[in-house]
Amino acid sequence: MRLFVAIELPDEIKRQLEAMRTHITGSRWVPLEQIHLTLAFLGEVDDATCDLLTGALATIKASGFNLCFSGTGCFPDRRRPRVLWVGLEPEPLLNSLAFLVRKAVLGCDIPQEERSFFPHITLARLKFPDPGEVAAFLDQPRIQRLPQVNVREFVLFQSLLTPQGAVHTPVQTFALAPP
Ligand code: 2AM
Repeated sequence: MRLFVAIELPDEIKRQLEAMRTHITGSRWVPLEQIHLTLAFLGEVDDATCDLLTGALATIKASGFNLCFSGTGCFPDRRRPRVLWVGLEPEPLLNSLAFLVRKAVLGCDIPQEERSFFPHITLARLKFPDPGEVAAFLDQPRIQRLPQVNVREFVLFQSLLTPQGAVHTPVQTFALAPP
């Protein structure tokens, strides 16, 4: 199965992120139920490795924390935007959780990208977008008014690729210690 580890967001936040959508020709907006903060992407994993991984993730000792949204941005850069995202204020406890999750994943012999963790929530994927329409999205000030998110758990998700798009299903949820 195809797996990733992520932080789920409250429905109210997802609705507010969805409401930020603007018209961008060539955009594929992430459906509301799929909006999440990725901690680690694992790709295809067999059942035995998945069992090993859930055991390893369950041993992680980390504290809960609060996340504040910081603003919008795009990958790889504004001249060639392919992914639109909303970013987060720096939070050391988030970085240390991502580090521990990736360490657990590597410990199960599942390779991880070398590049460092850049916390973001993907909102849209773009193909040949209109630069003016992208700029109009990136320059909107609404993001500052999003409430903070209290993170108290993280989730191992299965991502099933279907002709209608990916379907994300929680495999197991892991509690964080009270902050
Ligand atoms: P991102 O879009 O938030 O960066 C589930 O597929 C999640 O895993 C995606 O939301 C994506 O996170 C992340 N991911 C990282 N590398 C990936 C890859 N090679 N293929 C698909 N998803 C990947």
